[in-house]
Amino acid sequence: MAPEVAAAPSNAPANAPQPLLDWVSGVAGLTQPDQIYWCDGSEAERDRLQQLAVNAGTLIKLNPELRPNCFLARSDPKDVARVEASTYICSAKEEDAGPTNNWADPTEMRGKLAGVFAGSMRGRTMYVIPFSMGPVDSPLARLGIEITDSPYVVLNMRIMTRMGSAALDRIAAGYYWVPAVHSVGYPLIDAEGNSRPDVAWPCNDTKYITHFPETREIWSYGSGYGGNALLGKKCYALRIASVIARDEGWLAEHMLILKITSPKGKEFHLSAAFPSACGKTNLAMLRPTIPGWKVETVGDDIAWMRPGNDGRLYAINPERGFFGVAPGTGENTNPTALHALGHDVIFTNVALTDNGDIWWEGMTDEAPAHLIDWQGNDWTPASGTPAAHPNGRFTVTADQAESISPDWEEPAGVPIDVILFGGRRASNVPLISESYSWEHGVFVGATVSSEQTAAAEGTVGELRRDPFAMLPFCGYNMADYWAHWLKLGEKLGEGAPRIFQVNWFRKGPDGKFLWPGFGDNARPIEWALHRVAGEVGAVDAISGRLPRSGDLNLAGLEISKDELEALFALDPEAWTVEADLTAEYFAKFGDKLPVELADQLTELRERIDRVKAANS
Ligand code: OXD
Ligand code: MN
Repeated sequence: MAPEVAAAPSNAPANAPQPLLDWVSGVAGLTQPDQIYWCDGSEAERDRLQQLAVNAGTLIKLNPELRPNCFLARSDPKDVARVEASTYICSAKEEDAGPTNNWADPTEMRGKLAGVFAGSMRGRTMYVIPFSMGPVDSPLARLGIEITDSPYVVLNMRIMTRMGSAALDRIAAGYYWVPAVHSVGYPLIDAEGNSRPDVAWPCNDTKYITHFPETREIWSYGSGYGGNALLGKKCYALRIASVIARDEGWLAEHMLILKITSPKGKEFHLSAAFPSACGKTNLAMLRPTIPGWKVETVGDDIAWMRPGNDGRLYAINPERGFFGVAPGTGENTNPTALHALGHDVIFTNVALTDNGDIWWEGMTDEAPAHLIDWQGNDWTPASGTPAAHPNGRFTVTADQAESISPDWEEPAGVPIDVILFGGRRASNVPLISESYSWEHGVFVGATVSSEQTAAAEGTVGELRRDPFAMLPFCGYNMADYWAHWLKLGEKLGEGAPRIFQVNWFRKGPDGKFLWPGFGDNARPIEWALHRVAGEVGAVDAISGRLPRSGDLNLAGLEISKDELEALFALDPEAWTVEADLTAEYFAKFGDKLPVELADQLTELRERIDRVKAANS
């Protein structure tokens, strides 16, 4: 017979409002934890949880002389990344999720969730995490409560969000909050009362990462990793926030934010959307190779942007930390990120050195002679497998980066001058190109893509579309999202940021990258800022406006005239293929496609035809 379930003891703070208490006890009734612990966000609490996670084998304490207060976690090898196939938008109507999302009927999904969450926290502590996305006192910030049965999640949420009493105080004061429930799906006691021992990384083969846009709820089951489990990040700050933003007239975007100061001391802010694996973290911590320019980090992954009273667009970074991909982070690629990792970091799925430090591919040119790999096995350079998982991560507070901007926590946000859209394109897309208008910029954002296969110059490889780099993160129909962007542009009018497309990844006929990238990416950005300041002209072209010859600052860079030409070459035949592929892609959205985007495609075809006519 199933044991009687008594109400779990709880340290609920005195100011927790009744609706919140009711919700927490409802979740506890379903998941049946041993106890309920409300997090206050204090250092003492962090220290206790770190110790608990070390005792459970979830965290390994690194050598305190080399990495003070740093820890390594090794996940279950089956739980190493976001699981897009198990991520659902459960809107009442399927068309509101749209063709780019996995839709699930909300009633059916609630039934499934009730099944898997029933008793899922037996034998465990249920943690209640009040958190704020954005500086707690910012009018652009939003609140949430994550319930989880994973101390690893609590420790990561403490780094990635403003977590604890200050957020709860706002909730107690009546501010709106989003409920988010997470369970690793590994109860320690079954329905009959039989116990089993815990494991270092509990999880479940069944996974559901679910979002209910109408009720603005998140339920996540079965994974302890990253965006599946740290529900403030992709689930809230993008999928649910994009819905809230649509309803309230703002934007929740998968964008980094930079502050850039010119040699003359003029300040600009830029936000930029890049699909995964396009060097977004490196750009967020850009070290310009051109003298006199200063680049500072406001955010590395997500931007919430709202029109201000002056008609400009103001952005905050809703996160408090970076959950960055570790492999590839080295002295040559991103020294700023590397230097941020000296203390108070949680590393996940990277390698352990013999002296209790961490290592990953790309950290140093030469690998250490011996390591323990991300799965806990002995490793040598001869092993033939990566020592760190390619999606191994560091979790660190943003203010540990030496590039952090003094206004990164500015409650009003920073005014955005420029929006960049980037992709990984071997062909066709020039190094930089300015949109003709806001509508054209939305068209460019809507058609962002990366090539699946390396393409030779002048041909188009198979394209993976990632509109606005939001493909896995938009909480509603992508075509409605484009319409929302168009509407917002109308509202902003003259105050709207200028939109540019960039491509650091164009290849020459020899298959080699034409552009050095990294710190030299400051050069095309400098051109964009000169355009914003009205200091340089431009040449009208198929993709948009291009730098005039001589306007791109190439001082000190070794690049041949041919390479430069190839970086900006626009072949009308290849662009016809591009336009045809865009038409095919847009057709997926049926009559939801905003007419402005269909018009932009027509205008693109007209520009291509004009070039063809001029060439013939
Ligand atoms: C991320 C992602 O981890 O975009 O930030 O996948
Ligand atoms: Mn991201």
